[in-house]
Amino acid sequence: MNMEMNSRALTVLFGGFMWLLLSCSSSYGLQSDIDCLKSLKGSLEDPFNYLGSWNFDNTTEGSICKFTGIDCWHPDENKVLNIRLSDMALKGGFPLGLQNCTALTGLDLSSNKLNGTIPSNISNITKFVTSFDLSSNNLSGGIPKDLANCSYLNIIKLDSNQLTGQIPAELGLLARIKTFSVANNLLSGPVPRFSNLQISADSYANNSGLCGTPLPNCQATSKKTSPGVIIGAAIAGLTITALGVGIGMILFSRRLSMFEKSVSKMRLGDLMKATNNFSKDHIIGSGSTGTMYRAVLEDGTSLMVKRLQDTQHSEKEFASEMATLGNVKNHNLVPLLGFCVAKKERLLVYKHMPNGTLHDRLHLVNEGDKSMDWPLRLKIGIGAAKGFAWLHHNCNPRIIHRNISSKCILLDVDFEPKISDFGLARLMNPVDTHLSTFVNGEFGDLGYVAPEYARTLVATPKGDVYSFGVVLLELVTGERPTYVAKASDSFKGSLAEWITELSSNSQLQDAIDNSLVGKGCDAELFQFLKVACNCVVPAHKERPTMFEVYQLLRAIGERYNFTTDDEILMPSDSSNADFIEELIVAREVKANH
Ligand SMILES: *[C@@H]1O[C@H](CO)[C@@H](O)[C@H](O)[C@H]1NC(C)=O
Ligand SMILES: *[C@@H]1O[C@H](CO)[C@@H](O)[C@H](O)[C@H]1NC(C)=O
Ligand SMILES: *[C@@H]1O[C@H](CO)[C@@H](O)[C@H](O)[C@H]1NC(C)=O
Ligand SMILES: *[C@@H]1O[C@H](CO)[C@@H](O)[C@H](O)[C@H]1NC(C)=O
Ligand SMILES: *[C@@H]1O[C@H](CO)[C@@H](O)[C@H](O)[C@H]1NC(C)=O
Ligand SMILES: *[C@@H]1O[C@H](CO)[C@@H](O)[C@H](O)[C@H]1NC(C)=O
Ligand SMILES: *[C@@H]1O[C@H](CO)[C@@H](O)[C@H](O)[C@H]1NC(C)=O
Ligand SMILES: *[C@@H]1O[C@H](CO)[C@@H](O)[C@H](O)[C@H]1NC(C)=O
Repeated sequence: MNMEMNSRALTVLFGGFMWLLLSCSSSYGLQSDIDCLKSLKGSLEDPFNYLGSWNFDNTTEGSICKFTGIDCWHPDENKVLNIRLSDMALKGGFPLGLQNCTALTGLDLSSNKLNGTIPSNISNITKFVTSFDLSSNNLSGGIPKDLANCSYLNIIKLDSNQLTGQIPAELGLLARIKTFSVANNLLSGPVPRFSNLQISADSYANNSGLCGTPLPNCQATSKKTSPGVIIGAAIAGLTITALGVGIGMILFSRRLSMFEKSVSKMRLGDLMKATNNFSKDHIIGSGSTGTMYRAVLEDGTSLMVKRLQDTQHSEKEFASEMATLGNVKNHNLVPLLGFCVAKKERLLVYKHMPNGTLHDRLHLVNEGDKSMDWPLRLKIGIGAAKGFAWLHHNCNPRIIHRNISSKCILLDVDFEPKISDFGLARLMNPVDTHLSTFVNGEFGDLGYVAPEYARTLVATPKGDVYSFGVVLLELVTGERPTYVAKASDSFKGSLAEWITELSSNSQLQDAIDNSLVGKGCDAELFQFLKVACNCVVPAHKERPTMFEVYQLLRAIGERYNFTTDDEILMPSDSSNADFIEELIVAREVKANH
């Protein structure tokens, strides 16, 4: 079982990302998604010119996001999330160019005139899709077995085509499947057994000869349709309805909770008492934005208090920033609970994270303590990547952290990583846009700052990727960012420079933490190191995006099941509306002061 899971994880890795793992200097960039759409348009006949608006002359970042039928991960980034081209009378074979839309999660080409077969290597083409709708076309041939390798699928709709042969039993292994429909085809043979899904007979209706639950038994022993089947189908229908209602309620209550409790204002006196007048004993960590203290309230509740170095914001501006930041919520971010403004003091109050910073866990292990094992380090890498990918790609406007280090990644009671200090860069610098210039020039911690920064003084998402790459290197090598214990005495550079040197001498393997090697995870360690190494290449354009980093790490960790069902980060349709509401709230806070 373990072996099987392992090979599945490796399959994921060696699928879409083999090219990426091959060398430290493979090239990235968002050109790939543009090529994808160019090829898609080129391969389809479009008699009514629905794709006429797809003009590739404009090379502005985000230009393809305005195309008919295209949703991006972020409106200013040419990275395609969904393709929805239903009912456009499009003709042609399945567009193979989709393999270049490497972060695609939804494909809807239903109600067109596509013909030919579904490619047998479909999982190489649409690896991360959660929704796959090719219904009401004229597709022929079989349903490829390889569709079962698209392991994130929630929805498969292939009804009303000319598909023949058997439905691959492997599809039953899809763990996340919620909707499966192949009605109105020419399929025959036994239907798959889905372990987590009850399917109604309607999903299989009008085929040549399908059998097996919920259809009549395959041994064709003239069994009359029993009431059981009808009841079964009715229950399945009910379950699906209930599921829909359930999801709706979850979404609804999430929306509510966003607004029910915004950050509260706290009194300086209480926070001073709780930190014993900001005593040294209470310090959890300090960095370029300020110092973090552990605070204990009179009722015994623990909190963390960040005392900002010095900010140039007025009291009003600070309060309105807090209102906005209080609404930035994600599983992998440290929740902001309150704030305090008094004279020159600017304090942020966070939920307490009992296991401290990743930095301390990695580098300040006491003699008696066991050092962190590999599965834990991998879990932390994946969770942190998810949080950063959310800040970069799903949060609107995107948040560039600018100060990523192992000190800003905190660990909760279950060692789940939680990012702190997001949004602080804005507080330190009054002039700010999402690609802003640093005002005081000195921001990130030593050893984490991307090399291009010295030249450009501009903060970019790729600068964050570099800094995060250094954190990943710390996880897999166990070394500190600025001092490499394992390097030869003559080496005076940073961890990232050391890795670059080893890489160019083909000695990368030597970098891995000795305490992790030889315990059956060597392949994972090396894959992880490669990802880290890709993040710290000097040419920023060649670094992966945070989304890609997250996907790569998640693939490496697939066999451990760290991840839950809502893994793929889906920007909700309401995210824009929420953001506008946040702006309104922030403005009101401002006006009321
Ligand atoms: C396609 O994916 C399979 C695993 O699903 C992998 O073995 C193969 O190398 C991939 N091919 C390409 C061209 O990416
Ligand atoms: C290119 O696209 C951007 C964003 O979609 C738009 O603001 C700009 O006006 C376009 N430029 C041209 C020359 O069409
Ligand atoms: C994917 O894009 C590359 C260039 O980025 C191109 O060479 C290749 O032909 C494309 N693949 C397909 C199937 O369109
Ligand atoms: C698909 O349809 C086109 C006409 O639109 C035809 O030329 C082509 O041969 C068909 N392909 C297949 C595989 O049936
Ligand atoms: C999938 O198979 C087709 C041929 O059927 C090939 O042209 C294409 O390059 C393959 N794509 C991948 C990603 O392996
Ligand atoms: C669908 O394809 C079949 C051949 O596979 C062809 O006879 C039929 O005309 C096609 N239907 C449409 C609506 O194009
Ligand atoms: C997934 O891909 C691997 C490698 O190509 C293959 O061996 C395996 O059979 C595929 N799994 C399914 C369920 O198709
Ligand atoms: C099966 O075919 C009949 C006749 O074409 C149609 O009325 C019915 O809606 C089809 N069933 C499904 C589930 O599509």
